[in-house]
Amino acid sequence: MVLIAPSILSANFLELGREIRDTEAAGADYFHIDVMDGSFVPNITIGYFVVEQVKKAATIPLDVHLMIERPDRYVKNFIDAGADILTVHLESDRHLHRTIAWIKEQGVKAGVSINPASPVSLLKDVIEDVDLVLIMSVNPGFGGQKFIPGTVKKLIQLKEMLREHGVNPIVEIDGGVSPKNIKTVVDAGADMAVMGSAFYTSGNYSKTIAEIRTLTGAK
Ligand code: DX5
Ligand code: ZN
Repeated sequence: MVLIAPSILSANFLELGREIRDTEAAGADYFHIDVMDGSFVPNITIGYFVVEQVKKAATIPLDVHLMIERPDRYVKNFIDAGADILTVHLESDRHLHRTIAWIKEQGVKAGVSINPASPVSLLKDVIEDVDLVLIMSVNPGFGGQKFIPGTVKKLIQLKEMLREHGVNPIVEIDGGVSPKNIKTVVDAGADMAVMGSAFYTSGNYSKTIAEIRTLTGAK
């Protein structure tokens, strides 16, 4: 069964408490939290203070996606704020191995993410160390962008690489995912799907999750 992680970036922030309750009541598996610094990506969003507040209200785990330069500087802040999975970008961390080890030492799941232009092959020397690999299917920076179809083959390549190495981290897909393409990404190997705009503009969260479950079957 595909894990569903609504991205609160597309939620109504004036009603965040209610959005959290409604998202959980609909059957979401994780909250995806998009942290942007205006430098690695051209947008500024959520910091660890907001993560801390979400943690107080949420009962499902927090999947925190750091789109920031030198994420190693803020690992401790986001872990203290309550991240259950902490994902950093391969493109923004000079000492990825050290950062991943550090996250795991603190008892939190560590993820690595790659942008659409970064080849899967760059992950070869870290896939045995991570708990999650996030494949970006849009250029990070904003919710509501169009899914890049070419990223589907990256899921297939990643699955193949994971098989060769005999490891099984969660494979997450993020960006432009909706009921229209969910089956394609799950068939290609996604275990976990982020949904921002498609979820929060759907008007009926429970119905959207039920639709995803129906479209993806028992995987
Ligand atoms: C993009 C973020 C995504 C985004 C997903 O930079 O990492 O998580 O919020 O939103 P949608 O599903 O609208 O593309
Ligand atoms: Zn994200």
